[in-house]
Amino acid sequence: MTDVLKGRDLLSLADLSSTELSHLLDVAGSQKRAWGLAGSRSHPLAGKSIALIFQKPSMRTLVSFEVACARLGAAPVLLAGSDTAFSRGESVLDTTKVLERYVDAIVIRTFSQSMVEEIAEHARVPVVNALTDDHHPCQGLADLLTIREHKGDLSGLRFAYVGDGNNMAHTYMLGGALSGMNVSVATPVGFEPKAEIIEQSRSIARSTGASITLSNNPAHAVAGADIVATDTWASMGQESEHASRLAAFETFRVDASLMAKAAPDALFMHCLPAHRGEEVTDEVMDGPQSVIYDEAENRLHAQKALLSVLLG
Ligand code: CP
Ligand code: NVA
Repeated sequence: MTDVLKGRDLLSLADLSSTELSHLLDVAGSQKRAWGLAGSRSHPLAGKSIALIFQKPSMRTLVSFEVACARLGAAPVLLAGSDTAFSRGESVLDTTKVLERYVDAIVIRTFSQSMVEEIAEHARVPVVNALTDDHHPCQGLADLLTIREHKGDLSGLRFAYVGDGNNMAHTYMLGGALSGMNVSVATPVGFEPKAEIIEQSRSIARSTGASITLSNNPAHAVAGADIVATDTWASMGQESEHASRLAAFETFRVDASLMAKAAPDALFMHCLPAHRGEEVTDEVMDGPQSVIYDEAENRLHAQKALLSVLLG
């Protein structure tokens, strides 16, 4: 199975089959458990270099990819800010064709999904989406690993997402569909996930026994859920909409009374960074059901497994 993933791209979770996704989570889990045991500190990617292109801010993704590279023995090459890739109007084609002569994989965080697709089309090396406006597959891998650790088998779990129909909503719909979960998404009117990603998720769900339900009612989405997740109301690039979004999302805050409608042992998840007091209260963030720091830790384990299988 690992060989099947060698040389592939990860632009969204839909690039993986259910079996491939499950296999990646197995690899991540076993590498995590083995870390520190004899042989686990070998450097399978020694001599390889990985470009990390960041056109948006990051803390977790950047640090976890750098540490994953260090643990695997690969050299990370950071291209962030205005002095580096794509900053002088050079075409995506030229930049990609040059980069692939230097590095063994390209990890990129940027705005448009179509740019990441264009890089992947031209690159002979694996391309990994480290977040776009539409998808955040690396966070999806980490979050599914986290749910497995706390709940076991993913199939049949009820996953509620409350908030903006953004990259995280899209990622949870696809990840839930691939894993056989029943995903219920509640957003304010006008902030629904993209129609084509809803359709793509439902199409996958038809073959896995999953379901994807949309509504504008947080209490309805959360009722009886095994997992309750949310995300910022204004994503990177939407800072100017922050004030107007606060008003639109006011009744979509995850607080103790909303959590009480979920299953008594429901998990609370947030990819972070969180805006405490906006999309979620301190009480929920710091409460016993919160697994937010496990998710953050699992970014490292999931991405280490991903780079191992893509680069063999
Ligand atoms: N969750 C996440 O991707 O965090 P960063 O934006 O800090 O990388
Ligand atoms: N939806 C958020 C996720 C941050 C990790 C954003 O895109 O800013």
